[in-house]
Amino acid sequence: MDARVMTPNDLNWPPAGECDSVPYGVFNDPEVFDREMELIYQGPTWNFLGLAAEVPNAGDYKATFIGDIPVVVTRDNDGQIYAWENRCAHRGALVVRDNCGSSDGSHTCVYHQWSFNNQGDLIGVPFRRGLGGNGGMPDDFDMQDYPLRKIRVEDYNGAVFGTFDWDMEDVDTYLGGDSSVNDHVKRIFNRPVKVLGHARQYIDSNWKFYAENTKDPYHASLLHLFHMTFGLYRSSQTGGVRLSNDWNTVLFSESGTDSDESLKETSDAHLRTYQAGDYSLEDMSLLAGRAGEWNDNTTLVILSIMPSLVIQQIQNTLAVRQIVPKNEKEFELVWTYFGYEDDDPELDAIRLKQINLIGPAGMISMEDGESSVICQQAISRSRDARNVLQMGGKTAEDQDHLVTETTIRGFWKKYRELMAY
Ligand code: FES
Ligand SMILES: [Fe+2]
Repeated sequence: MDARVMTPNDLNWPPAGECDSVPYGVFNDPEVFDREMELIYQGPTWNFLGLAAEVPNAGDYKATFIGDIPVVVTRDNDGQIYAWENRCAHRGALVVRDNCGSSDGSHTCVYHQWSFNNQGDLIGVPFRRGLGGNGGMPDDFDMQDYPLRKIRVEDYNGAVFGTFDWDMEDVDTYLGGDSSVNDHVKRIFNRPVKVLGHARQYIDSNWKFYAENTKDPYHASLLHLFHMTFGLYRSSQTGGVRLSNDWNTVLFSESGTDSDESLKETSDAHLRTYQAGDYSLEDMSLLAGRAGEWNDNTTLVILSIMPSLVIQQIQNTLAVRQIVPKNEKEFELVWTYFGYEDDDPELDAIRLKQINLIGPAGMISMEDGESSVICQQAISRSRDARNVLQMGGKTAEDQDHLVTETTIRGFWKKYRELMAY
């Protein structure tokens, strides 16, 4: 059924072309969620599936999701990465039931043991020719007709994306082509990476509250007291926001560069307390990273690649976050921490220690999940009322400062386009 017919556009949107406000119904309506799974996640988008480093060898596989649809990413003997929907071609069971592993080249459904190769083609059906003259599949049954639903895959500098839309432009174009977003992705994925670990958190919120959060420099110095206290991020710092394809965005800043000198306590403010010196860490080595690792002064980069990916650098930590929507009021957030294959032992140690800043219980990022939850709690019965997204103007464009919601406006602009609202 056409989702555009299935779901009437009865939300209280502002006039077409305006993106400085959205009705809360987009956050709590199951029909809106169904429409997103159809028009966004199975539509013209590239969805993050994982790091190529998570399936380094032939036979390696990883289970993940596009939207709420289970998918599996594999590496085959040809060295290429493949992905398919994790739904058995027989009667619909999950074929792969663990998060990751390594196979001998076949994936067997536990229910009736149909088996599929790494590329998702059917290679075995028990009792296909019957047993003792009984049963079996009809003569015209051809295994070639029953592959798993295949997903188009692209490995973009080590970040693996998938799409159900086989007519999509390539990932580079989707990210923005010759854009600041692409530059920042390539800056982080500038050489082979290695996985340091994972964390998962389940958040009682619509996935879009979190998408807004990852595009929101406005909150960063206000909600995250750790940022402010230890000078990792302040709204006065040198930094800015860039948009591409409307809803792919990057926020970046340089710590220790407050544009208003009156806000800066000392020249090494990133190691000093900011609020009257009341707070300090037992172990300040947490903040003693390695400066200039990327041969620039950028200390914070938050790339938000819609619909499902966040790529981040905070100080020396690197991580990707995958947003996995479950329904209109729940999503899972999957963190993958990484470094580079050629990191020296000291840098390994720095990255591992600074992971304390991020993740589900991270001193910086813990509040982001909670901010999404308190929004969801408050809008449970709000449908027509709208939020306000006017910090830094009413339109969506690049800005050379951090006091703005322009990137969130870009998100909603593209969202309305894809959802035909
Ligand atoms: S459902 Fe998978 S083999 Fe039957
Ligand atoms: Fe945040």
